[in-house]
Amino acid sequence: MAVPPPASHSYGYLMFSFLCLSPILHTATASSSSSSSLSSLSFKLPPMGWMSWELFRCNVNCTGKYHDTCIGHDAFVKQATVLIKDGYFRAGYNRVHVDDCFANRQRDPVSGDIVADPTRFGTGGMRKLATDIAPVELAVYSDCGTMTCMGYPGSINHEVHDAKLFFQKWGATYLKYDGCYNNITGYPSGYAKMGQALRSAGGEKTYYSCSWPAYLGDDETKKPYAQMTAAGCDLWRNYGDIQCDLGSLMDIVDHYGDYSKFLATVSGQGKGYNDPDMLLIGNTCIPDGAARLQMAVWSILAAPLIMGNDLRLVPTPIRDQVLLNEEAIAIDQDPLGIPGYRASNKSDVAELWVRPKLADGGAAVAVVYKGGSSLTRARLERNPSGSAWTTRKIGAVQLGKTKKLTLHVPFGAEIGWSPPSGTASVRDIYARTSLGEHTSGVDVSLTVTEGIPETVLLRLSDAADSRAVSDARK
Ligand SMILES: *[C@@H]1O[C@H](CO)[C@@H](O)[C@H](O)[C@H]1NC(C)=O
Ligand SMILES: *[C@@H]1O[C@H](CO)[C@@H](O)[C@H](O)[C@H]1NC(C)=O
Ligand SMILES: *[C@@H]1O[C@H](CO)[C@@H](O)[C@H](O)[C@H]1NC(C)=O
Repeated sequence: MAVPPPASHSYGYLMFSFLCLSPILHTATASSSSSSSLSSLSFKLPPMGWMSWELFRCNVNCTGKYHDTCIGHDAFVKQATVLIKDGYFRAGYNRVHVDDCFANRQRDPVSGDIVADPTRFGTGGMRKLATDIAPVELAVYSDCGTMTCMGYPGSINHEVHDAKLFFQKWGATYLKYDGCYNNITGYPSGYAKMGQALRSAGGEKTYYSCSWPAYLGDDETKKPYAQMTAAGCDLWRNYGDIQCDLGSLMDIVDHYGDYSKFLATVSGQGKGYNDPDMLLIGNTCIPDGAARLQMAVWSILAAPLIMGNDLRLVPTPIRDQVLLNEEAIAIDQDPLGIPGYRASNKSDVAELWVRPKLADGGAAVAVVYKGGSSLTRARLERNPSGSAWTTRKIGAVQLGKTKKLTLHVPFGAEIGWSPPSGTASVRDIYARTSLGEHTSGVDVSLTVTEGIPETVLLRLSDAADSRAVSDARK
């Protein structure tokens, strides 16, 4: 998949002035009382954890300076240790994912097992790794083809054997199943066979991540999502791999934004979750504002929160404000598991992403500044014929400074939510502050630098509900 060049980092003078629209008279959304549907056995939330691929790739040299950044036992144990020590595990990141390149090039000739390379994993192999990282759980990787993408043994025609190996002998609780060395006619049966084998071997609580749709091109509307649900996929990678740069992140944000309304209909609790790939948050390859953007958009989308960083190097402010932000995680992990979507049209400047159905009857809204480098003044307005949003350029560039930007978030049709009592409480999740009570909408201020994305993540709740919560706390 072609990855566009990183967004320009030219610094610009931003003078946004977003028109405050007249309040939309909304039809009252039913205040959802939701907990009745949560008892289902197949109840699953988007998985959370840490994965090796983004930084450690296929580094099979575990000697010398690479001993703790390679695909080997000690490197994974080190990440699991920090996962616990620094509070990630407690926050919900409960799994360490071994990606491609852990295995010997050939199966064991006697047992037929895939074997972790003993020079890197010791003779105890994956079972020992699972034991050594506990209570952190182990996620493993294989491929719905004759080989993995990097040429290690694939699982096609070994599904039952391998499912028992992964989930029973090794003790893994999650399989990422890639799609190299198979093809479009082979996927439906290949993914269904492994899905069935995993359920028999691992039971209902294990996760099955299917890379199937990522191998079917870019048009999400043409992919057989119902077949993936039927195959037992709990989540799927829809699109290209994320790379550690801003351009790749923004390309993925645009792709999921373009298809988010469609993808929301084929995914969610009981169907399977869309996976836009690993979090770059905590790496120096993206600016802090883009880290806030990624966490917000992923949480709106009900996406897996699987970190692709080196946990030992994550800067404390980003860790505490973003990765460990319990209110952002609570949006991602909302028990209803109903994904949100981009509510506005695509823009280089500002977008509105919403998740209007949360278990407490509230909503999440991300006010996303995209870093747009070509204009300084814009206006977020409603499409005259409908509820779509667009940004319109209204001025010329004047390069120079960081500026303050104010956006209006209107309650009602545009965001798919309005407070049943007529008044909403608004919470700024990254600032961890209340923005007060509002009736028709709320103005949000961001300080931005042209070229550098930024995002404010809000949680809206009915004011009557949040007053009741604060009374109960007294
Ligand atoms: C592994 O990395 C070390 C540096 O730490 C290097 O000296 C060695 O040649 C590498 N081995 C291979 C097989 O590339
Ligand atoms: C597609 O994959 C299947 C196995 O899943 C194989 O039998 C078939 O030969 C492959 N077809 C092509 C055109 O590669
Ligand atoms: C928003 O996007 C839709 C779909 O592409 C398009 O039909 C509509 O014209 C856009 N709205 C504006 C005001 O550009």
